[in-house]
Amino acid sequence: MKILVVGRGGREHSVIMHLEKSEKVSEIYAAPGNGGIEQHATCVDIDEMDIQGLIKFAKETEIDLTIVGPENPLNAGIADEFEKENLKIFAPRKNAAILEGSKDFAKQFMMRHEIPTASYETFTDPEAAKAYIEKQGAPIVIKADGLAEGKGVTVALTVDEALEAINEMMVEKSFAEAGQTIVIEEFLDGREFSLIAFVHENNVFPMLAARDHKRAYDNDQGPNTGGMGSFAPVPDITPDILEFTTREVLQKAADGLMKDGRPFTGILYAGLMQTKEGTKVIEFNTRFGDPETQVVLPLLENDLLQVIVDVMDNKDPQLKWKDEACVGVVLASKGYPGEYKKDVLIPTKEMNNDTFVVQAGTKKTDKGIVSNGGRVLLVGATGETLAKAAEKAYAYLTVYDETDDFFYRSDISR
Ligand SMILES: Nc1ncnc2c1ncn2[C@@H]1O[C@H](COP(=O)(O)OP(=O)(O)O)[C@@H](O)[C@H]1O
Ligand SMILES: [Mg+2]
Repeated sequence: MKILVVGRGGREHSVIMHLEKSEKVSEIYAAPGNGGIEQHATCVDIDEMDIQGLIKFAKETEIDLTIVGPENPLNAGIADEFEKENLKIFAPRKNAAILEGSKDFAKQFMMRHEIPTASYETFTDPEAAKAYIEKQGAPIVIKADGLAEGKGVTVALTVDEALEAINEMMVEKSFAEAGQTIVIEEFLDGREFSLIAFVHENNVFPMLAARDHKRAYDNDQGPNTGGMGSFAPVPDITPDILEFTTREVLQKAADGLMKDGRPFTGILYAGLMQTKEGTKVIEFNTRFGDPETQVVLPLLENDLLQVIVDVMDNKDPQLKWKDEACVGVVLASKGYPGEYKKDVLIPTKEMNNDTFVVQAGTKKTDKGIVSNGGRVLLVGATGETLAKAAEKAYAYLTVYDETDDFFYRSDISR
């Protein structure tokens, strides 16, 4: 099969590295890809949001299956447009991708289908939102309704912080349209994890639980980022919790979408909080998580393409997982998530078989692979235990200690 992967991040690099191992794959194309993806696939210079350009390419190249990484094209209706042209695509339609694209939709959906989540109210008027915050007190969580590149949520520890977030989102309009409607929700205290599943209509096949680290610096200090590292599986997430989450969250979501006339095909990601009262949903994503994908896929024993084909054919892919652990540590440009330098040559060294590098913000140039983003790459390793996996990843990461241009957290999974 000829496969097209849409996206340019670490998640897409990881998906491609695993597709490459498939016996069913003849060729892989990426649009637009990145410096690392170029080593495994043919990169074509088409933007993720250029849906008509992607369709034209898929037809001309006789692509058999398209896999979509990022949320923006999903919410722009890439699956609907591909289906109209009879092109096979493993991705949810616009009317199901809205589960990620609108936090207010997701909250109403969870209430309607009795999926456990934080209590909430939705507002379009800043004064009403502020009055609600004064009444509720802090801590409290403010979320822009629309897609905001992972920057639309404020976990406010004080009422002042919460009011400031309302001003930024609704009055100063820092997220434009995406922040004109906001969700204010109950603060959930507990341990976060994510559970990602392959889904087709009512069929749900969960992967292993993973946990990511969102803060920039060690001990969860510093600003929020797109994710500084992740690991899988998660020792404190027991089989009982996983069984509950599969049944009460993922299965109910898939069934609920069917009932609502929004059948889902693709990857459904549940972001969860394990609280004293049980498991609660923080959010749904309708695609592979980043950087969770990078640590979950290396533990999958199955042929990834076969899994996707089976799921789309209503067959049980019989997922098998290695009895190992995987740890991934992000290398970021110094200054990220604020200002940072680009075009810095990235040092490399030999690595052993259990270690891998997934590239995110990179670019291939004549002098070698250079940085081209805040999160540059992820160094991952598998091992018998999390501790052993972490040890291997960190052994490789010392190669970056010699430079002043990059940083990484030293406590991922530790
Ligand atoms: N109700 C909540 N209680 C506590 N923390 C929350 C809550 N909602 C979100 N968060 C924190 O904020 C992060 C981002 O929120 P999320 O809803 O996942 O938005 P997005 O990923 O779209 O930015 C979560 O990963 C979690 O750490
Ligand atoms: Mg999230």
